Amino acid sequence: MKAVILVGGEGTRLRPVTCLNPKPMLPLMNRPFMHNFISWLMSHGLKDIIFTACYLPRPFIDYFGKGEKFGIDIAYETEKVPLGTCGAVKNVEKYLKGSGQFMVFNGDILSSLDLTDMINFHKSKRADITISLTSVEDPTAYGLVPIDSEGRVREFLEKPGRDQIVTNLINAGTYIMEPRILDLAPAGKNYSFERGLFPAALEKGFRIYGYVSSAYWLDVGTPEKYLAAHHDIGLGKIEFDYPYPEIEPGIYGGTNVSYNRESFSKGPVVIGDNTVIEKGAKIEPLTTIGKNCHIASGARLCGCVIFNNCRIGKGSQVSGSIISNSVTLGNDVIVEGCSIIGDNTQIKDGNILKNGIKININSKIVRGQIFF
Ligand code: GDD
Ligand code: MG
Repeated sequence: MKAVILVGGEGTRLRPVTCLNPKPMLPLMNRPFMHNFISWLMSHGLKDIIFTACYLPRPFIDYFGKGEKFGIDIAYETEKVPLGTCGAVKNVEKYLKGSGQFMVFNGDILSSLDLTDMINFHKSKRADITISLTSVEDPTAYGLVPIDSEGRVREFLEKPGRDQIVTNLINAGTYIMEPRILDLAPAGKNYSFERGLFPAALEKGFRIYGYVSSAYWLDVGTPEKYLAAHHDIGLGKIEFDYPYPEIEPGIYGGTNVSYNRESFSKGPVVIGDNTVIEKGAKIEPLTTIGKNCHIASGARLCGCVIFNNCRIGKGSQVSGSIISNSVTLGNDVIVEGCSIIGDNTQIKDGNILKNGIKININSKIVRGQIFF
């Protein structure tokens, strides 16, 4: 079965990390998020992949090529202007013709959903569309999909207000479709599944089913959720293939990592190639450090994600926050509370960045400028 992956969104809620890096290629435990995603598809026999890109398409092509490294086939289609979730799939209809039902994936989902079982469900229901559903505590940021006792979809309520919550089952961003469904979509126009094709198909009486799963599921599209993905993997909530061997109990390290055991209390911690952790630095659990980083003595890192080529100065502390590529923190800098530092930024000594503060890419923050 062919699989279309939607990777063209701008990832606005994750700015500034997504200013230079497309959301599905952001590092997840030091490997592109999409790497793990593709492994998930492959584990269910999906090896014929079509990427529908738009915003920052190059990193996908550079990393995956035609799929040779993975033993799969990958085709790309890049939209000149965003075509929306359904428009993007309509735009690749030529790849889907004549090969039966196909799957569609939102490209920002971390999940252990059993795709094989979902495909069997789709066939057993003789569905035209099957939508994976999961239950979340606060469904307002998602598409609500109420179903009847047979699993048949009754309604679509995309990003509803609090007073419209009729179910906690949401669209989990994975679909199986019969090809003729795309006849309902206009060609070359911005069109969405959630507000366009799904409600239209329902109206026309097509058989749309919800496949409910309690498997691990997370949309990584916000800073909180992006950090939570790392923490959940570290806590073993979802099975994950770490990119490196365990160099100390719970410490996963690439090649040429320089460290002292006393820097770690316990894992999990992930450290990329050629990173130096000076004696006297403290690396607390659920921390991921990219490659070619330098963590100075007296620095303390806890539950944070640090990308590649970063320098963390003496006595600086980073906790529950994201530091993008090529960032330099001077001495005694504090970054905490889901704050984000954009790529190629220098933060000089003594700055205090808290409460979800975001520093744009290519910034230079002088000594002691920020303290809230
Ligand atoms: N090619 C292309 N073109 N891809 C797009 C476009 C586009 O114009 N717009 C969005 N995408 C991709 C994004 O890159 C992402 O992988 C996926 O489509 C979904 O977009 P998001 O922006 O992440 O949507 P969302 O999270 O607000 O809502 C969607 O996902 C929820 C589950 O996580 C909806 O499908 C909701 O109904 C659903 O509950
Ligand atoms: Mg999303």
